[in-house]
Amino acid sequence: MSRCRLPPTPASQITGEAVYRDRRRLLKALALAPALSVAGCRGEPPPPQDIPRAAGTDATGTGADAAGPLTRYEDATSYNNFYEFGSGKADPSRAAKTLVTSPWSVAVGGECAKPGTVPLETLLKGLVPEERVYRMRCVEGWSMVIPWLGVPLGEVLKRFEPSSDAKYVAFTTLADPRQMPGIRAPILDWPYREGLRIDEAMHPLALLVTGMYGRPLPQQNGAPLRLVVPWKYGFKGIKSIVAIEFTRKAPRTSWNDMQPREYGFFANVNPAVDHPRWSQKSERRIAGDGNRLFADRIATQPFNGYAAQVASLYQGMDLARWY
Ligand code: MTE
Repeated sequence: MSRCRLPPTPASQITGEAVYRDRRRLLKALALAPALSVAGCRGEPPPPQDIPRAAGTDATGTGADAAGPLTRYEDATSYNNFYEFGSGKADPSRAAKTLVTSPWSVAVGGECAKPGTVPLETLLKGLVPEERVYRMRCVEGWSMVIPWLGVPLGEVLKRFEPSSDAKYVAFTTLADPRQMPGIRAPILDWPYREGLRIDEAMHPLALLVTGMYGRPLPQQNGAPLRLVVPWKYGFKGIKSIVAIEFTRKAPRTSWNDMQPREYGFFANVNPAVDHPRWSQKSERRIAGDGNRLFADRIATQPFNGYAAQVASLYQGMDLARWY
């Protein structure tokens, strides 16, 4: 994976959490006053859409206070990995505008009683997206704190009535060279694929995400539907999902296919297991701190700080072997 770095961010463009929250209050107020629009202000996210969402619960310990200061919207939407739109961090935010995200359907099949291809609206019908502030740790050593909007993955999967043979869940991204210029390059064996064990997929922290920062998901972040699994390295968070399949055997996954020694199927954040080419003991937040894009190094936590919730899924497993 490339490890390129963006140039430093000027102090004038830095937004701390308090400012974000104030701005969010302001944007909400502005959204109620249609004559005023902040769209077009440099560096500002678009005004929030009226997305229904559940009242913020912190039952999973995923509130902003637990996760730390939020990454700036501008950084979370311009420093991306989405290889279908290029391998540079700034490529997706420039190139992904060509991705048509509506209408969108998802084909669900495999070991389940009710397979079918359903429009996104049907897939999520009756489920109200909730805000979850998650720490996100990329295998490359940087991290972010993002307020996602999504629904528990398990709630969606249950609708298709997986059978007792469904031991894993496989996910596939759209692969359309007309919309995705990056897939002309043989970086990965397209389409992008990811997978989870069924108990991981059913865990309440695993989220199917449709928005971030109170707004619809931008294309570069995986619109209209992506996976977020906060205790795993970011590459498990497959974007722009078009297919979900319940399987008996562990499915193929893109990075594991490409370089199995470097990217395991489980990919749980684990400071005790180094990547073959670098240490995973610490990370740098994309934090908009002073004049720098990256804040100082901090220690990486086992399971990215979610051990209390998820460590029991891996009881008895040798995590150095099953990395
Ligand atoms: N999904 C697809 N389809 N293609 C990709 O290249 N990159 C992964 C993951 N999901 C990727 C993907 C990697 S390596 C990371 S770190 C995260 O998306 C980045 O998510 P973000 O850009 O929203 O921070």
